[in-house]
Amino acid sequence: MDNATIERLESSCKLLAPRGEELVDQFYARLFAENPTVRPMFPESLADQKKKLLAAFVLVFENIRNPEKIAEPLKKMGGRHQGYGTKAEHYPIIRDVIIYVMAEMAGNQWNDQLTEDWTNALNFVASIMVEGQKEAQNGSRQAA
Ligand code: HEM
Repeated sequence: MDNATIERLESSCKLLAPRGEELVDQFYARLFAENPTVRPMFPESLADQKKKLLAAFVLVFENIRNPEKIAEPLKKMGGRHQGYGTKAEHYPIIRDVIIYVMAEMAGNQWNDQLTEDWTNALNFVASIMVEGQKEAQNGSRQAA
């Protein structure tokens, strides 16, 4: 990722950070409205879930300039997602819902460039998480 991209991602994060709770509320509302089949994968109460998701976003974007620091935590997070029944094809759904909600909240501060930047950034996060899922899968096969 070049510096200009990182700066655009950071400034959109700063813009939305004060509305982080609203962002996760809207994220789950839209995710489940559009993809009702994933709702049963999540616990009934989303209170903890929302806090954890927000913390994961913060972790990623505090370390956006040093991705090597987040690779390991993201892999581990991917490994845990193996246990939640997450499939590789779910990641683009999550990505597009996150971007939709951010764009809607940012209003006229959003543009196509940001959609492209965030698509790439979330594809990168997903690719590391999927790697972690694959490792977790292989690990459990070996153990079985
Ligand atoms: C950008 C990608 C994603 C991020 C950053 C993310 C983040 C998180 C975090 C931080 C948690 C809390 C528990 C933990 O850390 O293990 C979590 C739980 C969960 N995630 Fe994700 N996630 C992502 C993608 C997905 C996808 C694609 C799915 C598939 C539908 C999914 C389904 C779940 C479920 C079902 C739980 C709750 C499990 C439980 O508490 O029983 N996540 N996610």
